[in-house]
Amino acid sequence: MNVSDDRLVTAARVDEDAQYEAGLRPRTLNDYIGQDRVRENLDVSIAAARQRGDALDHVLLYGPPGLGKTTLAYVIGNELGVPVRATSGPALEKTGDLAGILTNLGEREVLFIDEIHRMSPVIEEMLYPALEDYEIDIVIGQGPGARSVKMGLQKFTLIGATTRAGLLTSPLRARFGIVHRLEFYEEKDLEEIVRRSARILDVPIADAAARELSRRSRGTPRIANRLLRRVRDYAQVRADGTITIDVALAALKLLEVDEYGFDEIDRKLLRTIVEKFGGGPVGVNSIAAAISEERDAIEDIYEPFLIQIGFIDRTPRGRVATPRAYDYLGLQPPKRDSRLW
Ligand code: ADE
Repeated sequence: MNVSDDRLVTAARVDEDAQYEAGLRPRTLNDYIGQDRVRENLDVSIAAARQRGDALDHVLLYGPPGLGKTTLAYVIGNELGVPVRATSGPALEKTGDLAGILTNLGEREVLFIDEIHRMSPVIEEMLYPALEDYEIDIVIGQGPGARSVKMGLQKFTLIGATTRAGLLTSPLRARFGIVHRLEFYEEKDLEEIVRRSARILDVPIADAAARELSRRSRGTPRIANRLLRRVRDYAQVRADGTITIDVALAALKLLEVDEYGFDEIDRKLLRTIVEKFGGGPVGVNSIAAAISEERDAIEDIYEPFLIQIGFIDRTPRGRVATPRAYDYLGLQPPKRDSRLW
């Protein structure tokens, strides 16, 4: 199996996922598993807005990919009883695109902008008065005769999603009244998600198998659901359709998903820090160059989980492999300044 195949199984998002996820997505806060603090806070905010008959404040959701930012945006729309119009930062190319969307929003409706950190500065500029005063400035005509007219909008709710809140400009960030960070999921929550998805897909799965899949999903429901789908294929073709623990283990072995859920890129990243850079500290650009990956992919996809489970540390001088990473690679950690760990 080559590296790009491997990535399809774990980190990267593919179209197939989007379709598949649509069927598995919870539609209400009640059905949404995990992220308890976020869920409870949203429950209060939504109930309050509903009671007042008001639009919900603008919401910013941030966190690593695959944790349910888009899912949550649709859940919020559903709980508010309003439609959700969805777009993304890179898709908004011209101010006319955004003006068209904003002027068509009904009262209290939701506009969801994924990858909101990737909007162009002119689009962002146009969004400010829309968010604050529910109006936009539209320029009519060109050259010296051009005029700017203000156009009123319905009171709407923007839900923005981004992998890292630090990538947003501060004036944009300041305009969100509700800001939530999604965390990696606990194993017990992922296990419940796997069992729920298996039920919806009508595949029998043993508890031990659901537990094993959740353990190897890097705290990420998207990965859990993807592994479930691959293991289901294996169960269908190589067994009798039931996902027993033996079937799950054999399928995961074939997929080369190890006990931490690491794929080839995670392993390469760890090996590079340890073997090429003496365990660090090393800058993310040097790591990116050494493993031929985009810096953004390392920072958004791979690093957060490796940091979360304590395999790498981010220090002011760069990334450092921890003793756990050495252990994982079957190597002896060097003696070093304990302040780095
Ligand atoms: N499917 C994907 N994410 C989910 C979640 N948080 N709760 C329930 N089902 C999910």
